[in-house]
Amino acid sequence: MHIYLAPMEGVVNARMRALLTRIGGIDRCVTEFVRVTGQLLPRRVFFRLCPELSTEGLTPSGVPVYVQLLGSDPIAMADNAARAAELGAPGIDINFGCPAKCVNRHRGGSVLLDEPELLYDIVSEMRRAVPDTTPVTAKIRLGYRGSERLHDVARAIAGAGACELTVHARTRDHGYKPPAYWELIDDLHDITGIPVIANGEVWNYQDYLQCRAQSGSEHVMIGRGLLSTPDLARQIRDRNLQQPVNALSWQEVLVLLEEMLSDCITHCAPRHAGGPMKQWLGYLRRQYPQAQRLFEETKRLKAPAELVAQLELHRFEESKAA
Ligand SMILES: Cc1cc2nc3c(=O)[nH]c(=O)nc-3n(C[C@H](O)[C@H](O)[C@H](O)COP(=O)(O)O)c2cc1C
Repeated sequence: MHIYLAPMEGVVNARMRALLTRIGGIDRCVTEFVRVTGQLLPRRVFFRLCPELSTEGLTPSGVPVYVQLLGSDPIAMADNAARAAELGAPGIDINFGCPAKCVNRHRGGSVLLDEPELLYDIVSEMRRAVPDTTPVTAKIRLGYRGSERLHDVARAIAGAGACELTVHARTRDHGYKPPAYWELIDDLHDITGIPVIANGEVWNYQDYLQCRAQSGSEHVMIGRGLLSTPDLARQIRDRNLQQPVNALSWQEVLVLLEEMLSDCITHCAPRHAGGPMKQWLGYLRRQYPQAQRLFEETKRLKAPAELVAQLELHRFEESKAA
């Protein structure tokens, strides 16, 4: 049983991967997508999206990070996959699920799900370009408009040599609207012979159980659920082992938020330092009502010193109330 942290452009960067993998329970991460248009990208692009390449592709707690590529040109995708592998990526993932209009207009992401032959070409060129020891995996949705071609797509990807398939169990047209149709992927493992990872709408342990039962998949990938409940992967593991679960308290989450803010103050322009913390609060408020309050308290603050002071005050008041 594996639990993977989903790639999320603009949200799950190296900082977030370091925080979440330290809490535990996550077996692997995937970078935000690297957009491949025509040419071989400079090394710095890979290091920017995957700073972990300088530590053997591992987060500080030792969890591997696959580099995700998005594009439609088989040769350019292969060249860039080879470069990522050469730089030490532990694996290469391909994004065939992105729903963004601007990406789809340029023949990237989920629009390719209507072209299984092209998917086959992309995956097989990439597979050929990287060493046998470097896994090539793919992430898809059920389809673009509908899911009629799902089996063809899955067969093409597996037949071309991908060793794992992650499925966000919605079509592109479904966007992010619940539910996720986990039951529609339950025959993919039999059809492809490769591990299938179920993804979409796993917010808590009950969802996890339901997702596994309906998808027939042993493995799950979780994105927003791990941002709103940062110890969700650890909770799932603990419950599976029937050990007592100590859910992360709001005070413990505040320590993580402080750490994030301080890292942003060190590395970002002062007026942007509070952005990632506020963005995370937007996810955390689903699980922690206090996150909403902290968001209200900080939303108009920009100066780093004000943000730090407000966070301290909030923590003090919360500890008094506890
Ligand atoms: C803000 C945001 C950014 C995303 N960026 C990526 C990405 O770069 N690559 C990718 O394959 N999927 C991306 N996704 C999709 C997620 O990986 C995942 O499939 C989706 O959020 C459903 O899983 P969840 O319900 O566990 O969040 C993104 C999703 C969101 C909400």
